[in-house]
Amino acid sequence: MDSVGNDEAVIATNDDASSCKRCAVAMGYWRDRYISYFVRSTDRKAPEINRGYFARCVAIKLLVDKFVEVTHGNCQIVNIGAGFDTLYWRLYDEGKNVKGFVELDFPGVTSRKCLYIQRTKPLLQAISEEDYDVKLNRNNLHAHTYKLTGVDLRNITEVEAKIKESDLDYSLPTLFLAECVLVYMNTSKSSQLLQWIAEKFKSAFFINYEMVNLGDRFGEVMVSNLRSRGCDLAGAQACQSTETQRQRFLDVGWAGADSYDMINIWARLPPEEIARVMQIELLDEQELLQQLFTHYAITTAWTDHRWSDIQL
Ligand SMILES: C[S@@+](CC[C@H](N)C(=O)[O-])C[C@H]1O[C@@H](n2cnc3c(N)ncnc32)[C@H](O)[C@@H]1O
Repeated sequence: MDSVGNDEAVIATNDDASSCKRCAVAMGYWRDRYISYFVRSTDRKAPEINRGYFARCVAIKLLVDKFVEVTHGNCQIVNIGAGFDTLYWRLYDEGKNVKGFVELDFPGVTSRKCLYIQRTKPLLQAISEEDYDVKLNRNNLHAHTYKLTGVDLRNITEVEAKIKESDLDYSLPTLFLAECVLVYMNTSKSSQLLQWIAEKFKSAFFINYEMVNLGDRFGEVMVSNLRSRGCDLAGAQACQSTETQRQRFLDVGWAGADSYDMINIWARLPPEEIARVMQIELLDEQELLQQLFTHYAITTAWTDHRWSDIQL
């Protein structure tokens, strides 16, 4: 498969993820009043997919909120491979202000996101601040706090230049979020990116949601399903276990890391939320959900020991 063809398939994973989020939101798994501006309609997904997305989104929400709370908002957020994620708008609605918010993705994704933001009043209103013009071109959008930037994350020189243009302060506590992103990059490239972050940002916290146990039978099927859709998991090597996920950070200069599979994460979610979502729809395929949960994990890593306590 040529690399351009593979990049197109990787870009298409954003449409999948956004459509699954849209479906789960429409069914009442969690609230997101912005996702429907990016995804107009969606077909109904299987209950185990909805529940999987619920676990992922709620766990990430809780971790992000903890970081914003402990830093009293005196922090920045960089969403790597952000796709059509709506985190900026949720934080805005909840009055959780941060000093800078940067989203990075392929230009093929950011150009579409720019367009949606430009033509949707509630999206545009939330990024507009007094006395500051929103600067917009085809792939990039620069507001005062919010920046959306088209970049190939495998090109570290380009990433560095784009981060510089985004006016981030390297000395501020900074949360990096990557939801199913690094796995699409060769591990030498993702290591380079993680190392660069660790060297530049002295007070960084990373939340990485992605696959684990890709070497077992179920994992192999996941890999071959994606391959049959033209999408190669170039970074599968780092997704062999929670230990390889943890180690990938420690190997490139992060001070500490933890990694838990989604079975473990599910057990830590608020019981009242679990009870609520269990009522939404019947789940026949318990075993399939368990399999999915053992094949995804949340890894957190920090360059600053103050953030080692941020856990579920
Ligand atoms: C599975 S989607 C997830 C999107 C979003 N994080 C979410 O959870 O809704 C993966 C995203 O990573 C982006 N991505 C993967 N490799 C990338 C690269 N080398 N440069 C820029 N973006 C990349 C894709 O374009 C896509 O938007």
